Amino acid sequence: MPSLDRFFHLSPDLCCVRDTAGYFQQVSDRWTATLGWSIAELTERPWIEFIHPDDVADTDVHEQDAQQPDRQTPVTYKNRFRHRDGSYRWLAWRVDSYQEGLSAAIAQDATESQWRGSQQYRRGLSATLKLRDQALAASSVGIVMADARLPDMPLIYVNPAFETMTGYSASDVLGTNCRFLQGDKKQQPGLEVLRQAIQRQRNCTAILLNFRKDGTPFWNELTISPIFDEAGRLTHFVGIQVDVTLRVQAEQSLRQEQQKSEQLLLNVLPKPIVTQLKERQGTLAQQFPAATILFVDLVDFTTQASQLSALVLVETLNQIFSAFDRLAAEHGVEKIKTIGDAYMVVAGLPLPQSSHVSAIADLALAMRKVIQDFTWPGGEAIQLRMGIHTGAVVAGVIGINKFSYDLWGDTVNIAARMEQSGEPGQIQVTPAVYQQLRDNYHFEMRGQINIKGKGEMMTYWLQGYQSESPKTNH
Ligand SMILES: Cc1cc2nc3c(=O)[nH]c(=O)nc-3n(C[C@H](O)[C@H](O)[C@H](O)COP(=O)(O)O)c2cc1C
Repeated sequence: MPSLDRFFHLSPDLCCVRDTAGYFQQVSDRWTATLGWSIAELTERPWIEFIHPDDVADTDVHEQDAQQPDRQTPVTYKNRFRHRDGSYRWLAWRVDSYQEGLSAAIAQDATESQWRGSQQYRRGLSATLKLRDQALAASSVGIVMADARLPDMPLIYVNPAFETMTGYSASDVLGTNCRFLQGDKKQQPGLEVLRQAIQRQRNCTAILLNFRKDGTPFWNELTISPIFDEAGRLTHFVGIQVDVTLRVQAEQSLRQEQQKSEQLLLNVLPKPIVTQLKERQGTLAQQFPAATILFVDLVDFTTQASQLSALVLVETLNQIFSAFDRLAAEHGVEKIKTIGDAYMVVAGLPLPQSSHVSAIADLALAMRKVIQDFTWPGGEAIQLRMGIHTGAVVAGVIGINKFSYDLWGDTVNIAARMEQSGEPGQIQVTPAVYQQLRDNYHFEMRGQINIKGKGEMMTYWLQGYQSESPKTNH
């Protein structure tokens, strides 16, 4: 059978025996754990010296009660006992009457409950709550609370900023779900995110199109956060609303501007080049092993230019080149530029294209056809002189402003020479073009012509398609 002393030290309470002289005779280990003093420190001086000066008189009264010879029941009272660190703890005493100069007593640490029950604590609490209410009311963003325990999660609180932002008063909206702000816009992308977050009891931020009481729209950046009770059950959601209409509008017009300038850039440069330009800086020149180039020139332009006003002439050029632009787009080839009355177009770059030679031949034939719809302002027919060559070229954008996508290399010079040395109404091509197209297109041999720096070269007139005329052997 263990001795009763064991209980003395096992108890979670502060157990002690004191004498009528005012000293501790015995203290349990709990005293040291709760108040920081060693047992020697507690027992070497009168215990009243540890009591808060304001509580000494009261303590004396209760202790005298316990010393009454006819006292049968324990005396209970509270006082503040000094901790070794200088702070005080509230102790709730239960003191047995003194017998033969000794009394057993139990003290419990009542600091927590004493503090919570105190007027000072309650005053502090209500001041904190008031401050919190004032902060919510003063906030410039909307703050709402929805009760997650009630069906359809009705609003139970909205702050003044919410009322100002939406035009709805608290009495209009308390008790209803916040979805009334969406009008008939129930299919917004942000809502799906929100629904999932609510279902999973998570935080989430979404931008929603909402409507004020007067029907005007605004963009609402809503952040919701779940609130859980001590048992971990969801009780509420708090929502914070910010009117981000100006920001959303600014972003929209920025995007529109970006699209506009990208569209402008696409008028000047091929799409893959625009993408490359956006991704990196510096020279964008690239070698293409196989591309086909067509030069087109308006015959008689110089004569016409000397007779017509520049404005009228440019208008005619504009109409013709616009028709060529449309044809180039239809044939999936890349217009490079116009040089005065000449038009330059390439196939096979910037994206490789296996049928680049035939794409250019088809385009040249289509241009020759479409030009029949045009006349010079004086009514004379317009004729084209065209030249085609195929081979390796370097293509790219160089310089830092007013840049354009251009081509360089022998293939370009030879294609230009094909056009310059050609004849009105004819499409002159090199042997390289002829070799690749001879099976499906109809050609006539022209003969040798001199190419500056290259010497003599055999050339051919592209006449049309094989099916349009009997095959001829050259
Ligand atoms: C705390 C809280 C605040 C909300 N505030 C808004 C709001 O300001 N505007 C809005 O369109 N929806 C708001 N909602 C979302 C709707 O109340 C609702 O959850 C949402 O429309 C998805 O549910 P439903 O599909 O049943 O409509 C809020 C939701 C919660 C929980």
